[in-house]
Amino acid sequence: MRLNPKPLIDAATLSIRIRELGAALSRTYGGKHPLLLVTLKGALYFAADLSRAITTPHQVDFIRARSYAGDQSTGRVEITHRPEISLRDRHVLILEDIYDTGQTLAAILDMVGEEGVASVAVCALLVKDVARVSAVDVAYKGFEIPNHFVVGYGLDYNEGYRELPEIRILESETLA
Ligand code: IMP
Ligand code: MG
Repeated sequence: MRLNPKPLIDAATLSIRIRELGAALSRTYGGKHPLLLVTLKGALYFAADLSRAITTPHQVDFIRARSYAGDQSTGRVEITHRPEISLRDRHVLILEDIYDTGQTLAAILDMVGEEGVASVAVCALLVKDVARVSAVDVAYKGFEIPNHFVVGYGLDYNEGYRELPEIRILESETLA
């Protein structure tokens, strides 16, 4: 595998878009004291920046989903860490790094839907241009990207590359 030398989305572009999302979310959630539910680990960096771009008071908690995909069409998702703050009667905003097949978000929405929330919406930094296995309503989207495997700004390949300040395409050598 090798990193494409040219960033797909550079740090300055990420920062500008996140400030725009923060402004939109501040308007929508003003006075509602929303709970940002961050999906670990990929959305961690995005969430840290977005939270600081939201000017209305809010709380932050974490959820972790792991997919066991023996085969792509039968990928099963398990929630391995649940939020500590009660979701009951809360306006929950799920922060996800990337909307790919949709299976992770569908499983998280199922779990959140059982908790008696006041509302739930999804904000994904990246939306990949692929056929979905589970279609999910993503109300807030950072960037639409082509169907490549990307790393950086929280997204990993085998736990590596999360610390890159920008989004890069990871290419397999054989295709390069
Ligand atoms: P989904 O369940 O197929 O939508 O996949 C969502 C999860 O798969 C994301 O939260 C990521 O952790 C991971 N993922 C999907 N595409 C990529 C990628 O291009 N780079 C890194 N991780 C990815
Ligand atoms: Mg993830």
